Amino acid sequence: MKPIYFDNNATTPVRAEVFEAMRPFLAPDGGFGNPSSLHTLGQQAHAAMESSREQVAALVGAADPAEIVFTSCGTEADNMAVIGAAFAHRDKGRHLITSAVEHHAVLHACDYLEKEHGFAVTYLPVDRHGRVSPDDLRAALRPDTLLVSIMTANNEIGTIEPIQELGELCRNAGVLFHTDAVQSAGKVPLDLKEWPVDLAALSGHKLYGPKGIGALYIRRGVQLHALLHGGAHEKNRRAGTENVPGAVGLGVACHLALKEMATEEPRVRALRDRLEQGLLERVPCAYLNGHPAHRLGNTTNVSFDAVEGESLVLALDQAGFTLRNEGLPGLEISTGSACASGLLEPSHVLKAIGVPSDRIHGSVRFSLGHFNTDADIDAALDIIPRAVDRLRSLSPIWEDRQKAGV
Ligand SMILES: Cc1ncc(COP(=O)(O)O)c(C=O)c1O
Repeated sequence: MKPIYFDNNATTPVRAEVFEAMRPFLAPDGGFGNPSSLHTLGQQAHAAMESSREQVAALVGAADPAEIVFTSCGTEADNMAVIGAAFAHRDKGRHLITSAVEHHAVLHACDYLEKEHGFAVTYLPVDRHGRVSPDDLRAALRPDTLLVSIMTANNEIGTIEPIQELGELCRNAGVLFHTDAVQSAGKVPLDLKEWPVDLAALSGHKLYGPKGIGALYIRRGVQLHALLHGGAHEKNRRAGTENVPGAVGLGVACHLALKEMATEEPRVRALRDRLEQGLLERVPCAYLNGHPAHRLGNTTNVSFDAVEGESLVLALDQAGFTLRNEGLPGLEISTGSACASGLLEPSHVLKAIGVPSDRIHGSVRFSLGHFNTDADIDAALDIIPRAVDRLRSLSPIWEDRQKAGV
């Protein structure tokens, strides 16, 4: 059986069109020039970068391609937004606001500012579906707040935040607003020139581009402190010789995402819905995590009672499925022993939405994508319920529950 990949929120394969577009910029006789060089080879590389910038700008609806800065990944883009804004605007105040369900690229950047530089951070709670309340944000804004950072969509449960409402509150209060759009770029329409958003991060490898490239949208006029110091690259905003093949790949990936979104989003959503409904119908004591409606069309996160998410992921891996145990970060490292010894923290997102800890450990994320088909869903609905049954048949917890009739 061909492996079935359900882990597109972790990373996506590079699309053939992207790979082909990058190839000349990696070939020894091709466009390997340094975009800062004045000669023909350099200027070819420069032109390729600028056309990619236009493609990225088009996907996110930026008013001007100059508002896009290439970075090495989504993490760097988030760090540049959060730390760059904090350092550039510390005269205004030293308070930041974010949410409890952000990616660690934002949470750990905030933590760094708190611990190492004396900033104060408010972590907004979320409701049981993972949404931030605009009322909570309104109440948390202070005269010394310099930045609010709330993700557009969550990587674990797919919940989409009310970005326009939250951004409006910030704009009215004269506070910069950053959104981590790493999971939403390419999946849902973004219109940053119209939205009250000042900064937005994205990442190549989440939308069928290569790893090692990301971008930060910086609204014209917004000042950030640079994180990297060196040459005058990226208009003095991010020093370092540009990753030309990466930028070209990201550009083509953005172009394809924009061109195909209107057909691809509903196609993937229909597959996801069939998978989700099928699992919830066929597997007793299975629960959906995330917002029923305001959610990315490719993501479903399900808790299976009395099942170790890790064991399920490994059992399914053997059966040809690649997906992710969201209970614990990083399947690669979450071995049974590490888990039992309590070395790993359970998912902060599932905790924040109030999933009980035993259920967190039985939670699995399915994130679908461009290459999934109806046949994948048929296979999943055949195999996954049987895998859950088998694991439960070995589980003393399940046995006790059966005896107790719960
Ligand atoms: C919401 C979100 N933000 C940021 C990142 C970090 O992106 P990258 O892997 O490109 O550093 C990820 C990656 O999982 C993500 O899902």
